[in-house]
Amino acid sequence: MPDSTAPQAESPLPVTCTIKREVDVYVAISRGRELANAIGFNEIDRTRIEIVILELTRNLLVHAGGGDLRLSHVTDGERTGMAVATVDNGPGIADIDMAMRDGYSTAHTLGAGLPGVKRLMDSFTIESTVGVGTHVRAVKWLPRRNTGGRR
Ligand SMILES: Nc1ncnc2c1ncn2[C@@H]1O[C@H](COP(=O)(O)OP(=O)(O)OP(=O)(O)O)[C@@H](O)[C@H]1O
Ligand SMILES: [Mg+2]
Repeated sequence: MPDSTAPQAESPLPVTCTIKREVDVYVAISRGRELANAIGFNEIDRTRIEIVILELTRNLLVHAGGGDLRLSHVTDGERTGMAVATVDNGPGIADIDMAMRDGYSTAHTLGAGLPGVKRLMDSFTIESTVGVGTHVRAVKWLPRRNTGGRR
């Protein structure tokens, strides 16, 4: 039976980064790597999470005139992982289905950011209202340890 008086492992604290300039993107990636490391992600997943932070924060700069990034340790009772979320007060996205397509870009760039983020993470949600702003949230779960019985 779990001992409720036993000290709990410290959960890494959430981090919020305000993204206004390009340098903020690099600070955010570094914070993300630290948090992903503290949660226990391996090198490959840490790199995936860094790419996601790069893409979402670049979208804040390029499409929304800046915004906030929030990085947090999440659990759902069974699993533990990391959430990467952005919020902005930019112009919003009129057609989200279109924005999620590979190759669609209003900035005449690759249009690979959002679909790439969705592929790299385990869950992905985007909500946007034209004239109000955009909220993106993506979660990566830590692979479960092999608990298949005693040796
Ligand atoms: N935060 C945002 N606010 C407003 N529009 C956005 C935002 N993020 C993405 N978009 C819209 O969704 C489109 C697709 O985004 P995505 O990141 O996939 O491509 P991109 O940023 O145009 O190009 P790439 O990321 O490959 O450089 C953008 O061109 C833009 O129109
Ligand atoms: Mg992009």
